This record gives sequence, structure tokens and C-alpha cells, in this order.
Amino acid sequence: MYNSQIIGLGHYLPQNSVSNDDLSKIMDTSDEWIQERTGILSRRWVDSENKMSSSEMGYKASLMAIKNAGIDKNEIDHILFATISPDYYFPGNGVLVQDLLGVGTIGATDIRNACSGFIYALSIANAYIQTGLYKNILVIGSELQSPVLDKTTNGRDLSVIFGDGAGAAVISRSDNQSKIYSTHLHSEGKNSLELSMKGPSVIHGMTELKTNTANPQLFSPYMNGQMVFKNAIVRFEEVIKEALNKNEFTIEDVNCLIPHQANLRISQFIQKKLGLKNEQVFNNIQKYGNTTGASIPIAFSEAVEQKRIKRGDLVCLAAFGSGFTWGSALLRY
Ligand code: COA
Repeated sequence: MYNSQIIGLGHYLPQNSVSNDDLSKIMDTSDEWIQERTGILSRRWVDSENKMSSSEMGYKASLMAIKNAGIDKNEIDHILFATISPDYYFPGNGVLVQDLLGVGTIGATDIRNACSGFIYALSIANAYIQTGLYKNILVIGSELQSPVLDKTTNGRDLSVIFGDGAGAAVISRSDNQSKIYSTHLHSEGKNSLELSMKGPSVIHGMTELKTNTANPQLFSPYMNGQMVFKNAIVRFEEVIKEALNKNEFTIEDVNCLIPHQANLRISQFIQKKLGLKNEQVFNNIQKYGNTTGASIPIAFSEAVEQKRIKRGDLVCLAAFGSGFTWGSALLRY
């Protein structure tokens, strides 16, 4: 069995930064409310002047990841694309990036596990490399969420939280100390509708859309915020400990925890619960909001860029989100 490692990371954020004060001009909210509840100061939203799809943002992040990996794009032998905001109902975004990159007819897999999507994708990449099936896998998390948010006072609980952006990583067979120790994936489908968007889907609104009789609420995300918060803080802690225990590490051994950037209050709660120091946790939700499946690779890429994570560091990634799904990955960068 082979080990796998992350050899290159990249990210792409749309230029258009939207501050809390900008939002308070279009809905009944305030900088104070948003900062106090979420820690978010601004988010990036694709605008009409610089239109981008999630596959295009994923492609841009991929170019940076491949460059940083120092390999030729033609050495990539598989693509995994995590998103809940794909360009099309079908096909998935993976094939679109295969085409944009102009690489050979390699396989492209799409993952729909929302905020946990990048960890799920990383887990699959790790297993593919461990078995020897592939050597260099491009893993992408990218989301274009702003067009579906309800930017009126009705949708303010959600629209102030979410942002657009993309992150990518090249996962390769390792011949040194860098490796992914383990990944841990969980789900609890009984809570599937507590954080969801029902349509358009085959049974929710697709037919009605054609006759203009669809209920628009089906096409706006719904979140039971307090329930999500309560479950997230429990599951984050559990799944981080699961990864550490499995590999016989302690919390003191962790150089950097990158929690999915759901809400700064959630990250701070976990940090306190686990007794992590400020320098052991990386957050950037303040600038970008919650970018769902893109948040972990964006944060990882920035943390490396800012030298908060160096080669040889023990890094823990953890996520919680729609499904509910949650997961972690423990790795030596
Ligand atoms: N601006 C101003 N007021 C707002 C608001 C906004 N953007 N959104 C909601 N409110 C109001 C509500 O209408 C409510 O008003 P009321 O008391 O008059 O009815 C009040 O603020 C409190 O709403 P509530 O939903 O109870 O707030 P909360 O303290 O639970 O905070 C969240 C809401 C969404 C910030 C919080 O539940 C949360 O962070 N949940 C987890 C979200 C998350 O992490 N999601 C991502 C998962 S991957």
C-alpha cells in the first residue's frame, strides 16, 4: 500500500468583496449583528461584470495548485470535484475542468457532500492512491452560491453567511514523511432537510418550472441555524478526536487545525473545547464568509502561503454540514 500526500495547493476568490455594511443597504441587518453571530466581516460574491461559474473558479484554483505542485497538468490521472453549486444539473463539474485544463481523457468524479465535500473527496483520493490506482489526483472544492441566496430581509439569516470561491489540491503518491494518516467520514440522513435546498430536482419543482407554477421557496436554501450550530460543535469535536486517537496523537501534537469555515463562533467554540492555542487554528471566514465545499482548500492554501503551515507540520482538517455529514483528515504536510 502507498502513502499519499498533498504536493500543491491553490485558491481563487472572485474580486468583488461585499462588506456587512453593503448588505445592510439591501436588507435589514447590521455589521454588529453579523460580526457578533458569525465573525464575518466581508464575503466575495461574483458580480455581473466578472461572471464566473463554479467550474471556472475551480479551474483557476487548479492552475495554481498544479503550478505549486510542480508537475505537468498531463501527469494528473484523475479529477475529483466537490460542489453543491455545479454549472449544470448534469453533467458534473469534473468533466468541465478536464476540458478546461485540456488534459487527456482521465476520469472525473463529482462529490455532493456540501461543507464536508472536500474531506469526502480527499478521502477518496487518498484511497485511490493507497491502492496504486492513481498517482496524481486533482481535488477541487468550488462554490458559486451568491446567485441562489435570497438577498432580502427574508433570507438574511443565510445570505449574510455564504460566499463564493474555490480551492484545489494535488494529491500524489508520497516517497517521504508527508502523508495522509487517515480520514473519517460520517452522515446522519435523518437531518437532511435541516440544511437543504430542495429544488430544482426531479421531484421538487422541475416540472412546475416549465409552466411557471413552481414555488420559489423550493429554490432558496433553508437552514435551521440553531440546530446546525448545536450539532456542529458536537460532531467537530468528536471527529477531530477520532482522527487523533486513531493515530495516537494528542491535541498538543497538532500544528494546525483547519475547521470548515462555517461560522467563526463554531471554530472558536471547538478551539476552546479542545484547548487549542490561537496559533494552532487557522480561520479566514472573516474575509470570505462560508464557502461550503471550498472553505477548507481555500484556507489550507492561504495558510501555506502565509507560512502558517510548513512542510512536516501535523495538520487536521474537519468539516460539518448539510446531510448532516461530517468528517476529518489527519495529515503530515
Ligand atoms: N441580521 C439581523 N438580524 C437577523 C439576521 C441578520 N442577518 N438573521 C436573523 N436575524 C434575527 C432573527 O430574525 C431573530 O429575530 P427575532 O428575535 O426578532 O425573531 C434574531 O436575529 C435571532 O435569530 P436566530 O436565528 O435565533 O439567531 P441565532 O443566534 O441562532 O444566529 C445564526 C443565527 C444563523 C448565525 C446561527 O444560528 C448560526 O450560526 N448557526 C449555524 C450556522 C452555520 O454554521 N451554518 C453553516 C453550516 S455548514
